[in-house]
Amino acid sequence: MEVYKDPSQPIEERVEDLLKRMTLDEKIGQMRQYSSFTKEIKDLVRKGLVGSLLNVTGIDKVNEVQKAAIEGSRLGIPLLLGLDVIHGYRTIFPIPLALASTWDPSVVRRAARIAAKEASSEGITWTFAPMVDIARDPRWGRIAEGAGEDPYLGSIMAWAAVRGFQGDNLSDPDAILACAKHYIAYGGAEGGRDYNTVDISDRTLREVYLPPFRAAVLAGVGTIMSAFNDLNGVPASANEYTLRKILREELGFKGFVVSDWNAIGELINHGIAGDVYGAAKEAVEAGVDMDMQGDVYRRALRKLVEDGAISEKLIDDAVRRILEVKFKLGLFENPYANPERARKVVKCKEHLDFALEAARKSIVLLKNEGVLPLRKDLKTIAVIGPLANDRTAPLGSWYCLGDPKDVVTVLEGIRSKVPPQTKVLYAKGCDVEGDSKEGFEEAISIAKQSDVAILVVGERGDMSGEAASRAYLDLPGVQEDLVKAVYETGVPVVVVLMNGRPLSVKWIAEHVPAIIEAWFLGIQMGHAVADVLFGDYNPGGKLPVTFPRTVGHVPIYYNHKNTGRPPDPKNKYTSKYIDEDYRPLFPFGHGLSYTTFSYTGLEVKPKEVEPGDIVLISFTLTNTGEREGDEVAQLYIRKPVASVTRPVKELKGFIRVTLKPGEKRKVTFKLPTEQLAFYNSEMKLVIEAGAYHVMIGSSSQDIRLTSEFRISKTKEISLRTLKFTEAIIK
Ligand code: BGC
Repeated sequence: MEVYKDPSQPIEERVEDLLKRMTLDEKIGQMRQYSSFTKEIKDLVRKGLVGSLLNVTGIDKVNEVQKAAIEGSRLGIPLLLGLDVIHGYRTIFPIPLALASTWDPSVVRRAARIAAKEASSEGITWTFAPMVDIARDPRWGRIAEGAGEDPYLGSIMAWAAVRGFQGDNLSDPDAILACAKHYIAYGGAEGGRDYNTVDISDRTLREVYLPPFRAAVLAGVGTIMSAFNDLNGVPASANEYTLRKILREELGFKGFVVSDWNAIGELINHGIAGDVYGAAKEAVEAGVDMDMQGDVYRRALRKLVEDGAISEKLIDDAVRRILEVKFKLGLFENPYANPERARKVVKCKEHLDFALEAARKSIVLLKNEGVLPLRKDLKTIAVIGPLANDRTAPLGSWYCLGDPKDVVTVLEGIRSKVPPQTKVLYAKGCDVEGDSKEGFEEAISIAKQSDVAILVVGERGDMSGEAASRAYLDLPGVQEDLVKAVYETGVPVVVVLMNGRPLSVKWIAEHVPAIIEAWFLGIQMGHAVADVLFGDYNPGGKLPVTFPRTVGHVPIYYNHKNTGRPPDPKNKYTSKYIDEDYRPLFPFGHGLSYTTFSYTGLEVKPKEVEPGDIVLISFTLTNTGEREGDEVAQLYIRKPVASVTRPVKELKGFIRVTLKPGEKRKVTFKLPTEQLAFYNSEMKLVIEAGAYHVMIGSSSQDIRLTSEFRISKTKEISLRTLKFTEAIIK
């Protein structure tokens, strides 16, 4: 048996053995990825000239392509079959922004684990997830696909998702390869316009956009996707500084880099290459190992090697990385879909139950002035709005193989919750977009007959995600007018928002007594929303992103700098607006509950530490209300005096705790000083000496307890030292 086919041989030797058997064309083939399975591609696969396919789904198809590669090609190298398994495969979970609202990494991890189990059973071995782009601009539609605005929360969620997809061991049959994307700073697009230029400082790059990638790498992510955008003049898919220096050298990433869809070809549009040869050279030199759908590597690499424009070693290095991942995944031993396993796991009861749990945990109660929870024995309930009975929107923008037929709409959820004698009336009222108010009359009429009106408004699923940037952040169409018209009937109103980004719903926030941020919650959306409306589940999610009052606020984020003139209402010459409150509509970390919590007895020990030590921050959290509920306790720090300006607050720890009425728990955050490191004026990553403020709160604005500690000396640390804050509950 050839060494590369022998699973008992070390992976390194299998890779070298295979590499030396390959022709240059076969090597370049491994660096090519296509998104279809036409006859032409099948021929290429049989010749061993393709390394990966994406978007080929269904057990029979998958097994057919894999067979063509394994039995049809000379060396029998299996294909990596990739798909955007973003928030579920067939069992669709809440969108990533919603999952981040759980502030519970175990939910993110389990959702990814379940998605991996389902996808792998049908032969998908690679997902283009998690998207770990930080987003501070809700105009950018892809904010829906990530964990929001914060580098710490984003890092924890990135870690959890990678661990979930890849499982304990990549070679397990139910593990799939993860891909952290889009490297890097894709979320920093100017004007929030997708694919647009990004121009940011090296500090912002490293302190805001890099941390979740760092977490993904240290969690063992197998692949990274290079982004579409240009960054400070150099496209991310041709960027030696970010791909070789930061990713490989500083972070020690050992997997391979795949370009985003035709991102190598687009180097020509960016204007840093005149033709495919220039584009291929730039990308391969920067360390982009696989060309997604661009066909540029096929057209250019052989000639570049033959002309001596690039060395074959560059190709060998890329292929080595790709093959290594294929061996680690166990693809050579276990390449095919497993119909028997698929029958057992896909959309099984356990997965559907967890989709409900994840959806409930993702819901954020934004406002509640005594309306919620609703009694179940109301006589008549009006359910109104274009999204109330929509079964596609809850799936969000990337719903993989999700099926709208599996979705429980909000209307259905409510109907299944109330007793038979309760009448549930429904009127659509208007469309999500457009200016027709024809349906208003019916909506007003059913509201007048009811004890409460529940308005389900927001965005269609395809209004966020890729290529779905918005210039306005208001409710689209005439939906706000619909809310106003129903509100004016005098019936108590509850607004349920269904959307993929923060919306500037200022009028609603000021007038409507109860608002639920439900995002797109996946197939169990209706049940989860009904559970919260009627109090069968006490909401405990918190916003992972700031809500602006108006699009003019953007970019807006809680971890901003103090400025030389922080806002002061009494002083005009401070950092504010003359025509709008500068404060957010809803701050980062905000979320209410049907119960209340008190925070007492903050202790910080020791008061003086050295770099490398751990600071113990303890307090008592008490449920002071009448119902069981969840609270997300949040730890923020600030360095009031530093060698460079620092944010007014930075999240450095959090924990979601469930407490019974009257129950008390002592929470201790074990904060490693490494979490406090930042780049100093010489761009060295340091834990800097001095005083640190500690803030414990229920949101980034609702700070309940404060204290401080000191670090005695300054120490430089490596980017590979990553320690998360641990929380202990007693
Ligand atoms: C997106 C990626 C995605 C890829 C493959 C691209 O357009 O930017 O996020 O993984 O397509 O579907």
